[in-house]
Amino acid sequence: MTRAGSPETWLITGGAGFIGSNFVLAARERGAARVVNLDLLTYAGNLKNLAALADDPDHLFVRGDIADRELVGRLLQEHQPRAVVHFAAESHVDRSIYGPQAFLETNVMGTFHLLEAVRRYWDGLPPPRQQDFRFLHISTDEVYGSLAPEDPAFAETTPYAPNSPYAASKAASDHLVRACRHTYGLPTLITNCSNNHGPFQFPEKLIPLMILNALKGKPLPIYGDGLNVRDWLYVTDHCEALRLVLAQGRVGETYNIGGNCEKTNLEVVGTLCAILDELFPDSPHRPHARLITFIKDRPGHDRRYAIDAGKISRELGWQPRESFESGLSKTVRWYVDHPEWVASVESGEYREWLELHYGRG
Ligand code: NAD
Ligand code: DAU
Repeated sequence: MTRAGSPETWLITGGAGFIGSNFVLAARERGAARVVNLDLLTYAGNLKNLAALADDPDHLFVRGDIADRELVGRLLQEHQPRAVVHFAAESHVDRSIYGPQAFLETNVMGTFHLLEAVRRYWDGLPPPRQQDFRFLHISTDEVYGSLAPEDPAFAETTPYAPNSPYAASKAASDHLVRACRHTYGLPTLITNCSNNHGPFQFPEKLIPLMILNALKGKPLPIYGDGLNVRDWLYVTDHCEALRLVLAQGRVGETYNIGGNCEKTNLEVVGTLCAILDELFPDSPHRPHARLITFIKDRPGHDRRYAIDAGKISRELGWQPRESFESGLSKTVRWYVDHPEWVASVESGEYREWLELHYGRG
């Protein structure tokens, strides 16, 4: 499946998580680069996501922390990457409300230490390689805060107004990357993307949680009135946008990425229930939408996100390939077809999280 002898090397952080693993798999499938994959394997990281690369000589997995400057420095010197693609983060808003410290440690300090190690490496490169080098920082639309119903979508010029500890930590990391470009000249790029779904997403997030609960006939817990709006994007479309930004993005720029696909949470869950009804006509849980249960709202819950992806479309010609319905059908099918992967993540830690957050159900 993979091609050997890739022309360049990328150091990818967080490549055992949801988006990172999708990005690594696609990069190796295309033979786009040799990959050095640095991931701490927190609860969200899973080597099973990378099983297809077990025999790939051009994928090197290293378990380690982005905050470990010595390790990162060694990997950079040894492998001489042309790019660093930075996915590693604590990524779940609800967890950031219970325990913000880990978010500051990884997203802020981790990014800071990573940047310091990368800057040192980059400083030592000869000028042509300095010019070619890229640091691509993967961020989120949540840094822009919350929109009212009639507000225009987030543009790259929208002022930052992060509302959760997660969003604040990501905003801080964006600022550190920006400052590193401005002060030291490191060739950085930042992307701010909307909500992703697809294979390998840890089932603490809305879509996989709802699919797995619905399959078991468990309640589908909707926060508040279910009318909060998110913009949804299938993960492979995000990864394709990232490859384009890495290859052709203008250094120092930010690119917003989104599916032009605003949905209320009730619409999302209603659609995935309808997909399950069709897939399992004999299920005793049919109609699955009957399982929807309204629960206490998330504190500080942002009401609406929407992305204006005009810049990446105009400059780089990117458009999502999947519609909401086609992408969601693929996501549902993937979880249905991968019970072993699901069993592997439904560990003690996951059950503890469900109990802490949703109570016994
Ligand atoms: P995820 O939680 O699934 O994966 C994060 C990965 O980072 C895990 O493999 C974890 O082990 C690793 N990691 C955590 N701390 C680390 C550390 N200190 N050192 C090395 N590795 C560490 O996250 P995701 O959903 O794949 O998100 C990836 C990135 O994309 C994040 O930066 C997130 O903010 C951003 N993002 C996510 C979405 C989304 O919808 N999921 C949307 C926009 C942006
Ligand atoms: O917008 C991009 C962001 O999307 C990423 O930066 C984050 O890493 C990612 O986790 C995601 O954040 P959200 O908070 O939007 O995603 P989550 O899946 O947690 O929730 C989506 C919506 O569904 C949100 O309005 C909260 C709601 N929700 C979520 C859960 C887990 C529920 O109603 N019930 C739930 O049980």
